[in-house]
Amino acid sequence: MNIAFFKPSIWEEEIKAVNQVLSSGMIVEWEEVKKLENNFNNYITNWSYHPIAVNSWTAALDVALKALDIWPADEVIVPDFTFIATANAVRFQWAKVIFADVSKSDYNISLEEIKKVITPNTKAIVVVHLFGNPVRDIAQIADFAQKNNLYLIEDVAQAHGAQINWKKVGSFWDASAFSFYATKNMATGEWGMVLFKAKKHYERWKLIYNHGQSQKYLHTTLGHNFRMTNIQAAIWNIQFSKLDKLNNQRIQNAKLYNQILSHQDILQLPTINEDVVHVFHQYALLVKPGSHISRDEIREQLQQKGIPTAIHYPLPIHKQPYYQSLWYEEDICPNSSYLAQNIFSLPIYPGLKKEEVEYIAHNLIDIINS
Ligand SMILES: Cc1ncc(COP(=O)(O)O)c(C=O)c1O
Repeated sequence: MNIAFFKPSIWEEEIKAVNQVLSSGMIVEWEEVKKLENNFNNYITNWSYHPIAVNSWTAALDVALKALDIWPADEVIVPDFTFIATANAVRFQWAKVIFADVSKSDYNISLEEIKKVITPNTKAIVVVHLFGNPVRDIAQIADFAQKNNLYLIEDVAQAHGAQINWKKVGSFWDASAFSFYATKNMATGEWGMVLFKAKKHYERWKLIYNHGQSQKYLHTTLGHNFRMTNIQAAIWNIQFSKLDKLNNQRIQNAKLYNQILSHQDILQLPTINEDVVHVFHQYALLVKPGSHISRDEIREQLQQKGIPTAIHYPLPIHKQPYYQSLWYEEDICPNSSYLAQNIFSLPIYPGLKKEEVEYIAHNLIDIINS
C-alpha cells in the first residue's frame, strides 16, 4: 500500500465555487469577505471579537503586534517548539523573542514555563495550540496576563475548532490568529484571520492592513497590503461548512491509532482528555529515548512499507541558524530539544481511510517488535 502523508480535502464543490467567482468577474468582493469574517467570529467567539481576514497567518500576526504597539525594546514570550513563523512575527517588530520551554508530555507551553522567563520588559505572550491540542492552562495564562498587564495572543494556526472546557481556543484574550494555508484543518491555499477582543486594536489594524487608508486615497499611517480575494473566500466558505466534520474525521483516526498502539511501551501517544477537543492537525507521537529502536530507524522502515512520516519540528526555534546568529545560547529549552530528537508524525488527514490507519498502525507494531 502507498499512503500519502497529506491530501487536501478539496472536492468538486470548492472547484465549482472558484469557477463561479472567476466567471462572475467579482474577484475582489469586500462584502463576501465581510460575511465570512462574521461567520467565523460567531463560530469562535460568539460575536464577541472583531475579525479581519488577511492573506496569511504571518500577515495577521505582524499587523496584530503592530496594533498592540509592540516595539523594539519589548520582550515577547513565545514557545520554543512551534513553526518558526510564531517567533518571526515578533522579529518583524525588532522586538526580543523570549523562548519558553514546552511540556514533554503534551508539547505545549504552560504558565509555569512562562513565569520562568518573564521580566519587567515583557509586553506580550504568544501561546500556540500545537498540533490542534489546546494549551492546558490557557484560562490561567489569560488571567495571569490580565493581572500583569501583558497582551495575550493565541496562535491558532493549527487548531480551528479546538476546545477546552467547552470554550473554543482563539477566544481567550486580546487577539488570536488563524492560518488557512493549504495543509491546515481548514485550507484555502493561503489565507489568515485575526480576531481582536478590543475594538480600538481592530480599528488600528484595519488602517494598517489596507495601505493605512482612512478614506479612499487618504493615507493617515504607514500601511501594508494584506487584503485577500474573493477566490479564497469562495473556497473558505465551503471549507468552513465542513470544518466540524473534517475535524471529527481527524479525531476518529487519532482514536483508532491510540487504540491499536496503546500497548507499545516504547511509544508516547497523544492523550485525548474528556474536557478537551483536540483537533489533531498532526498526530505526533514520541519514541522514548533508550528504546531498542530509534525514531529515525522506525521512520525509515515505515517509508520502505510505503508509509511516509514527518518530523514537526526537527530543530527547536532557538537552534535555528537565524536565531543562533542573534543572542541565543544553545540548549536554553531542554524539553524542546528532547522533542525535536524523539518526536514524529503519522498521516492523519481526514480522507485517510480506516484500513489505511490500521495498515500504518499494524506495520508500526511489526517494526517495533521485529
Ligand atoms: C503554529 C503555526 N504558526 C504560524 C504559521 C504560519 O501560518 P501562515 O503560513 O499562514 O503564515 C503556521 C503555518 O504553518 C503554524 O503551523
